[in-house]
Amino acid sequence: MTIDRRQLLGSAGAGLTLTLPAAARAARGPDYGALPMPAPVDGLRAPLPVGDPSRIGFDQGWLFHEGDIAVPPAATHNETYLRAKAGNAVGAAAIDYDDSDWPLVTLPHDWASFQPFVESANVAQGYRPRGIGWYRRSFHLDPASRGQYCELQFDGIATNATIWVNGSVVAHNWSGYNSIYVDITPFARFGDERNVVAIRVDAEAMEGWWYEGAGLYRHAWLARRAPVSIVTDGVHCDPRAGSGGGWSVPVTVTARSTEAAAVGVRAVARLLDSGGRTVATATTDMATVPPLGQGDLTTTLTIADPALWSVATPTLYTVTVALERDGATVDARSVPVGFRTIRFDADRGFFLNGAPVKLKGVCIHHDHAGVGVALPDALMAWRLERLKELGCNAIRCSHNAPPVAFLDLCDRMGFLVMDENRNFNPSPDYMAQLEWLVRRDRNHPSVILWSVFNEEPMQGTHAGVEMVRRMAAAVKRLDDSRPVTAAMNGAFFNPENVSTVVDVVGFNYYPGDYDKFHALNPTKPMTSSEDTSAFETRGAYQTIPAKNIRSSMDDDAAGWGETHRKGWAEIARRPFVAGGFVWTGFDYHGEPTPHVWPTISSFFGILDLCGFRKTAYDIHRAGWIDDAPVVGLAPHWTWPGREGQPVPILVLSNAERITLRLNGRVVGEAAVDRLMGNSFTVPYAPGTIEVIASIGGREVARAGHETAGPPVALRLTPARRAMAGDGEDVQPVTIDAIDARGRHVPTANLPTRFVVTGATIIGVGNGDPNSHESEKGDSATSGARSLFNGLAQVIVQADAGGRGRITLRATAPGLRPAALMIDRVAATPRAQVAPLAATRTIDDWRRSPLLAARPDASLAPAENDNNSWAFVHSGTATPAEAQAGWQVYRASVTPVRVIAAKGGRIAFAAVAGRAELWVDGRKLADKAGAAVGPITAALPAGAGPRAIVLIVAPEPGRPSGIVGPVTISAG
Ligand code: GAL
Repeated sequence: MTIDRRQLLGSAGAGLTLTLPAAARAARGPDYGALPMPAPVDGLRAPLPVGDPSRIGFDQGWLFHEGDIAVPPAATHNETYLRAKAGNAVGAAAIDYDDSDWPLVTLPHDWASFQPFVESANVAQGYRPRGIGWYRRSFHLDPASRGQYCELQFDGIATNATIWVNGSVVAHNWSGYNSIYVDITPFARFGDERNVVAIRVDAEAMEGWWYEGAGLYRHAWLARRAPVSIVTDGVHCDPRAGSGGGWSVPVTVTARSTEAAAVGVRAVARLLDSGGRTVATATTDMATVPPLGQGDLTTTLTIADPALWSVATPTLYTVTVALERDGATVDARSVPVGFRTIRFDADRGFFLNGAPVKLKGVCIHHDHAGVGVALPDALMAWRLERLKELGCNAIRCSHNAPPVAFLDLCDRMGFLVMDENRNFNPSPDYMAQLEWLVRRDRNHPSVILWSVFNEEPMQGTHAGVEMVRRMAAAVKRLDDSRPVTAAMNGAFFNPENVSTVVDVVGFNYYPGDYDKFHALNPTKPMTSSEDTSAFETRGAYQTIPAKNIRSSMDDDAAGWGETHRKGWAEIARRPFVAGGFVWTGFDYHGEPTPHVWPTISSFFGILDLCGFRKTAYDIHRAGWIDDAPVVGLAPHWTWPGREGQPVPILVLSNAERITLRLNGRVVGEAAVDRLMGNSFTVPYAPGTIEVIASIGGREVARAGHETAGPPVALRLTPARRAMAGDGEDVQPVTIDAIDARGRHVPTANLPTRFVVTGATIIGVGNGDPNSHESEKGDSATSGARSLFNGLAQVIVQADAGGRGRITLRATAPGLRPAALMIDRVAATPRAQVAPLAATRTIDDWRRSPLLAARPDASLAPAENDNNSWAFVHSGTATPAEAQAGWQVYRASVTPVRVIAAKGGRIAFAAVAGRAELWVDGRKLADKAGAAVGPITAALPAGAGPRAIVLIVAPEPGRPSGIVGPVTISAG
């Protein structure tokens, strides 16, 4: 099978294989020694379609330097003068900076995830030093791109970034969570000329109190568009239900022009159903886009009876937009849309398509074991599948904008999203961040709420009210269809507080105030925006404070929080509370509350840092899943040495009655308490503990655990049996230990090693908040990680080699090794900007006036004279002169380290006029003829700046000089 990305374009539902929901939600089977993870599934995960065909990936070929690179102080007046000029950045931002020994990295890249854990580093950021880093990337632009609009896009850089293109600073960005779109059209160089992007990332800066990573941790893109084209995020097409039953999709297309004169354009919009059939078409009026300006084009698509988007059936349509100039399509977009209505009711909570839906939500940070915040799209999808099988239907992107692929996945999988702004501040820089968020995300059917802040101390003040008022108004100007909320943690009853100026009040914690608030504000809709904050260490069933271990029996929570059961019960019992968002769906690096060093990650997750299940998983399944029987019990049943001692058991179910059996003997029975679970205490005896759930006297589900023997072998379990051989597909593979009868051993804590072929190891983990083991392999294809309470995870990325085989082999001392084979299926890799070979160009020269006599090669402009000699660029001919003479071209170049040490080659592709090439006062080559031709010479080794001099004798009446690129290479 070959995946062809072109087939995916415009078909919103295609390209993704889900493991959901029926199989995942079915009651667990009677195999009580099974791995506590889903069985592997067939099917591939193709990258999400790109709705903007004008852009290609810019993820590959980046060179990275960890640490800052100081700019040497300017020594002279002239240096100071020259540094102040466009294109003349110095230090690591300079075009010619020697990055030849920097390692190559591929985005997404989080350099903090490679760091060791260090006690002196920031606790909230997970004790990982972050620091400062530099990225550089060279690329060519096809000459056919000349005249096009060119834009670089960075989906997210942690945290403060300064970006240079071809030696000019083009952006300062002060948040790690917004995208950066840079118009590089005026700076772009074409053909053989090199373009250089340099980025200084300051990750000392913090915007949060959780692990934020460091570097270019989301995708980057290069867009090339016609001179009149659609701006990025420039299509607004959010469906609206009409009062009479029909639906409309008001479409606004924003076009921009780099032309010198006004241009008339129009846009044709189409609505495609999930099968790709056109079901509506509309055309805008002609509009004029002014030179270097923008213009909006509007029209409306209508459809009488679309299939609705919902949590259970997230049907997507696609709006395609073609921008036409003189009858020809010059740009296009395709945007997935969903037809759904949303409403928050003050008494009855949230309504989707007119029916009440309780928000069964989780807060998440963008982070995973092994990879930190550099989450590949396929891993995001895997994480969302884990939430779906949990019965979760809502996600709060706490406390910042998610990557756009995340929202695309939520659209496809049927999640309801609270999309949250990072910085609470209505001043222009920050308002721009909020407006970007709304503009980017307002077409996603999954997005149901805009959250302007999380827990701001000014929430109960006049100033806070004024700030929210302005931010909410900015949101409404861009999207009048979704309510605005703010996640308050108190001040609900202050005389002035922000609850009065939001549409839906977000309660972080304070369940004891739900009723009072509702009574005092009976017309104000409300939801829990954050709750729970309970502590669980996955696979541990006893809290040991001295070892920073928290029991997974759901009896432990932060002082401001509740246990999982209590937190949900407070919400479930109140129809006027629209729902809740558990803090958190997954553990995350940093915020190791209630502990500090040596603990490096949090305890709050329903799933651990690897996505392995804690007891909270069964608690929420029982509470949240309505359409399938659920039963689960904790703890596991492998307690050698505790024979006869009482073991507390927690049973979680959504059925009517449960019966608990130990080795076939009934040891407990009860009516199900769906919210609080049922607790039992049973004296331990090895064997099988099982629980049978029934409704109306009929068994509907059963679950259990068998006592495992000592581990004798390792086992490797992938999430999927096949991966796309596109260099991007990623999946976690579970490593566990099994006993002589093939049963999972939940108590195994032992070191494992593994090697992979056909794929790369991008991270490893085991969910232990106290482990300081490296989260990376020790090479791209080998690594080590201990099992923690029975489990570890290795995250593999399929090579781009197309069809083939991935093998993984795991070993542990004294245990039988495990081997795994995964099919690598041929797949077309996502188009990427080609990395550039390590050839350097000499682009910038000084040129003397025309001299009557042949000058000496040492002739140079006087210090501080920036006027008598012209600044010229390779490839630009010197205009013809009537008389004969001589001109000197000078450049100062510091070759990269390998050429400095061993020498290299200097090549002028095209010189017009007779010429002599001199380097450091030595003549290296002559060009005898006047016709355009090359000059090449061996460049001797030599450290430091080299004086390159070309003496040219132009032919009278003909253009002359360096009319093609000049390169220095090692060969
Ligand atoms: C909340 C906060 C979260 C997290 C959580 C831990 O107050 O919004 O970001 O810090 O507490 O319990």
